[in-house]
Amino acid sequence: MLLKNATLVTMQPGAKDRLVPDGAVVLEGERIRWAGPLDALPSEHHQLDDIDLAGRLVTPALIDCHTHLVYGGDRAGEFEARLNGASYQQIARAGGGILSTVTETRRASAEQLLTDALTRVDAMIAQGVGTIEVKSGYGLDQETELKMLRVARRIETQRPVTIKTSFLGAHAVPPEFAGKPDAYIDTVCLPTLRAATAEGLVDAVDGFCEDIAFDRDQIARVMQCAADLGLPVKLHAEQLGHGGGAALAARFGALSADHLEYAAEADAAQMAAAGTVAVLLPGAFYTLGETQAPPVDAFRSHGVAMALATDCNPGSSPLASLLLAMNMGCTLLRMTPQEALEGVTRHAARALGLSDRGQIRPGYRADLAVWDAAHPAELSYRIGWNPLYKRIFGGAL
Ligand code: NIG
Ligand code: FE
Repeated sequence: MLLKNATLVTMQPGAKDRLVPDGAVVLEGERIRWAGPLDALPSEHHQLDDIDLAGRLVTPALIDCHTHLVYGGDRAGEFEARLNGASYQQIARAGGGILSTVTETRRASAEQLLTDALTRVDAMIAQGVGTIEVKSGYGLDQETELKMLRVARRIETQRPVTIKTSFLGAHAVPPEFAGKPDAYIDTVCLPTLRAATAEGLVDAVDGFCEDIAFDRDQIARVMQCAADLGLPVKLHAEQLGHGGGAALAARFGALSADHLEYAAEADAAQMAAAGTVAVLLPGAFYTLGETQAPPVDAFRSHGVAMALATDCNPGSSPLASLLLAMNMGCTLLRMTPQEALEGVTRHAARALGLSDRGQIRPGYRADLAVWDAAHPAELSYRIGWNPLYKRIFGGAL
């Protein structure tokens, strides 16, 4: 298949803002065979069936590299409580927050979890998303963590998307281990990680390094276990205060450190040296009324790649729109529209350890989004507007 009369935004490194007008893309099976200006199209492709895109913008399909979209229940009541003055940390310490979602997720059937997750996945697909990371972490016991991860895997059988799973057993201390986080890590979290890995359910290992969650020593044990299993790591770090998570992530060569509002310049330097991507989550920043923005300037000056994601979850970021996350990345975190688009394509792919997507180039997956827009900045600039015209996944329209 040949796409022609497209305005290509290839997202190749160095291509910067450059658009390819009168562009063409040759799709072969699930891959991109060729991309470039139509007048340079090799003659062997001239006879292909073509689709005329009437000058529309074509980007790589978007990648949401940080979500918790498999969960039970909702937390609208907590949203109200926060508006009445309670903080996210107070609610968590009183047994609400993540733990209230744990109760609901343990109670829910796999079928119910899947049905609910698919409504969120469909909202993402409708905005051109082709790859979604999904975390566990609302089970905190072996049975429910496995249930969540199996549901996450089943999404791929129900919808045309790629799902990458992250094991987040170190998300919170469950009530049955209150005051005993070390015992929880050693007797539940690590054995569950091994069992989930043996079942092929884990693509990466995540944790929550924070006062209200786990300390660096506990997280380091989880990361070491991941390393022993040959799995890449990532980490929720420096979200509510500076706890040393970003440096720890860098020390383990993490794919990404996520949130990072309280990260320091030295963290940026260590992340750059380790090639760790900074995943910024403006939906959580916005929902929690945070006022300290992540150090975007330091990430820029040290050359840390920045990704953007929804953090879709029932507490800190009830957001399913990656386009709105791009807008928030610009308006709230002062990223440029170009950085926002890199953050949901090329750099998001890196944050997931994927080297076959996030750019339009030969050999890469034919996951593309076609937009009713003239310039890529429009994707970040407009609010509550969905310009998706067509989505192509694995070469299929
Ligand atoms: O990414 N920070 C920890 N985990 C989630 C929040 C989960 C929740 O509140 O349910 C986050 O913000
Ligand atoms: Fe998160």
